[in-house]
Amino acid sequence: MERPNLLRIVAVSRDPEVQRLAQQYSREVFGADDLTDALDIVKTVNPNLILFDHRFNPRHIREFLNKADKNLVDAPVVAVGGDDSDTKLSNEFIRMGAYDYLQGKQDYNRLEQIISRIKNNSSTTDRDTRDEKGSLESGSKKGMSRFFAEDLAASVSMVGKSCATVNTLKMTKLVAGSQCNPILIVGETGTGKEVVARAIHTLRHPNGQFVAVNCAALTANLLESELFGHVKGSFTGADREKTGLLELAGSGTLLLDEISEMPIDLQAKLLRVLQEKTFRKVGGVKDIVCKASIMASSNRNLNNEVQTNRFRRDLYYRLNVGPITLTPLRSPDRREDIRLLAEYFLKTSTICPEKRDKIASLTQLAIEALEKHDWPGNVRELSNVI
Ligand SMILES: Nc1ncnc2c1ncn2[C@@H]1O[C@H](COP(=O)(O)OP(=O)(O)OP(=O)(O)O)[C@@H](O)[C@H]1O
Ligand SMILES: [Mg+2]
Repeated sequence: MERPNLLRIVAVSRDPEVQRLAQQYSREVFGADDLTDALDIVKTVNPNLILFDHRFNPRHIREFLNKADKNLVDAPVVAVGGDDSDTKLSNEFIRMGAYDYLQGKQDYNRLEQIISRIKNNSSTTDRDTRDEKGSLESGSKKGMSRFFAEDLAASVSMVGKSCATVNTLKMTKLVAGSQCNPILIVGETGTGKEVVARAIHTLRHPNGQFVAVNCAALTANLLESELFGHVKGSFTGADREKTGLLELAGSGTLLLDEISEMPIDLQAKLLRVLQEKTFRKVGGVKDIVCKASIMASSNRNLNNEVQTNRFRRDLYYRLNVGPITLTPLRSPDRREDIRLLAEYFLKTSTICPEKRDKIASLTQLAIEALEKHDWPGNVRELSNVI
């Protein structure tokens, strides 16, 4: 690609590979070390593109976009992940306002297409495109506010105006503003439990870490050392000290996804943490204070799990204080969200961005068909269908 004269890139990176990548496309590349530096430089040089390297997570991008004066900074942000980064991060970056995401070196050549897309759009269109992809600021922006019941919902991309969604938002705010810890969020798969967890986190710990672990995805031993960490030599293979998620969450949030799948022994250890607010690494002797908000989500009825002795009764009582229950999409109380969600996913889909901009709306027939379906996979299923 010929290096266009007019392209100015700010690379928020100390990684020479990312600097080199930017230099392939522009003679005017400005380096920034961190977010503060980036805010200053971007204001001064008014770039056409901002690259963030793998040190930055989706929340950093949101923080940057929130802090950047939108009248001065309208350059699209592209996040560049490390080679071992997860494809799932892509959605998360875009949800937080990034224009696009490159997953490690194997994806570097996509920057050319991205730059062509940027060049083909006027700066105003750029801004609109970023909004349409669901930036956190988008709720208040032209055309996107219609998807959200209020600002909080827009800031966490929680689409919907049905009475079920409005109630969920009410509960979310109530719980976030209370001292309630732990917090239990229940509901069928795909109803948005993690969306709610993030909303509470955003309200409670706007600058804290959000870490999540799926209790069903790991063996008992792995889950234990993932949660608590371990000291060197505490078991075969523990050749280094490991910091657990409870500690990593700091004064932020730890979400225990699919809590019903947590092994019984570990349930007892979790209960101790919830009661004593301290824990020890596996093999460790030092008490570590747990300051994080602990949230647990489940798509199983925990009460039934208690009856069948798969879940500890004492832990259930400890968790089940003011739970937030999400309504299935097919419920009459939430069905009216189907249309809004479908239109939102159509507008923000990243699968085929060229087509996305050409599709104006859904036909009445399509909407009726969507509204008739039962959506056992709830919002996730609807998103995939769109
Ligand atoms: N109200 C909503 N508006 C927009 N997107 C939503 C909404 N609710 C859920 N989603 C999206 O649907 C998908 C599933 O949501 P989420 O992961 O929060 O569900 P979950 O209840 O945690 O599911 P599971 O039980 O399978 O873990 C995500 O991509 C999420 O962004
Ligand atoms: Mg979940």
